[in-house]
Amino acid sequence: MKILLLGSTGQLGRSILRTNALSPAHHDILTPSRQKLDLVRIDEISSDLKNVSFDILINCTGFHDVDRVELEPELGFRVNAYAVQELARACARQKARMIHISTDFVFGGDESNSTPLTETDPVVPVNAYGTTKFLGERLASCTHQNIVILRVASLFGLGGMSQTQSNFVEAVLAQAGEGREFRVVDDQTASPTSAEDVASAILALMRYDSVSGIYHLVNSGLTTKFGFAQEILRQAKLPDLIKPCASTEFATPAKRPKFSALDNQQFCSTVGDIPPWQDALTRYLSARCLT
Ligand SMILES: NC(=O)c1ccc[n+]([C@@H]2O[C@H](COP(=O)([O-])OP(=O)(O)OC[C@H]3O[C@@H](n4cnc5c(N)ncnc54)[C@H](OP(=O)(O)O)[C@@H]3O)[C@@H](O)[C@H]2O)c1
Repeated sequence: MKILLLGSTGQLGRSILRTNALSPAHHDILTPSRQKLDLVRIDEISSDLKNVSFDILINCTGFHDVDRVELEPELGFRVNAYAVQELARACARQKARMIHISTDFVFGGDESNSTPLTETDPVVPVNAYGTTKFLGERLASCTHQNIVILRVASLFGLGGMSQTQSNFVEAVLAQAGEGREFRVVDDQTASPTSAEDVASAILALMRYDSVSGIYHLVNSGLTTKFGFAQEILRQAKLPDLIKPCASTEFATPAKRPKFSALDNQQFCSTVGDIPPWQDALTRYLSARCLT
């Protein structure tokens, strides 16, 4: 089976490559760089993919600097929505399966939510980034039937995100390393999720040819950013130097969802269980010590 992986230099893309390399089932994975296939150049996507043959396209790309998307929504719509539709068209032409990564930030606009959100809950984004990703989901689903959309959340993977080489775990460890008290917001609840666990789940999903539609793919459980930071410090055996605060203390161009925790039951019953986020964090902290 030939796999075309877009976004292979990112946090999740690298986790997929690492997990595949260690897996006995080991697939051939093509990894075109952003220079070869730049999703901003929507008009060139079709010709760039014309002579590339693949059975599955995994799209881990994304313009997900949430504040930048708020300020530059046009670029966000290009990469997160219209380019995704072009990729879906390319998959339809090749009769290939598409696995597309979306986000919990499609939720958050309905502030009455307080229990983990399922795939059938109404989508109400709270910012431009969530809107661009939701449009990407819709355009791709209207264009190609053989598509799985996986909504992930608050990813932490070795090496961090491609542009910053960081993620929330690394940011908390770096702050704690300065030895001064710091504040973390306590009014944003989500599902912290290991990029390695998402990668393993995606490779497992490949065995289920007939699965399509939207799935919430997150580690089990939920917490606030403050709760996540406390657990990071506890597991890393660092002093608890944090204080909770409200989001209003950090003015940002884009609003964040107050509640975007996802219910992963549908994915678990279709493909297999996903461990709790605390367990994923333990594995992450020991793996980063070895790298
Ligand atoms: N990180 C999170 O907490 C989080 C949460 C929810 C959902 N997601 C979604 O999960 C997916 C993976 O996230 P991640 O954490 O792995 O992100 P990441 O580390 O920032 O990686 C993004 C990847 O997309 C590529 N890319 C960006 N713009 C591109 C363009 N115009 N053309 C081609 N490639 C482009 C990047 O290439 P370069 O290396 O060249 O920049 C990189 O390989 C994204 O769809 C994101 O929206 C992430």
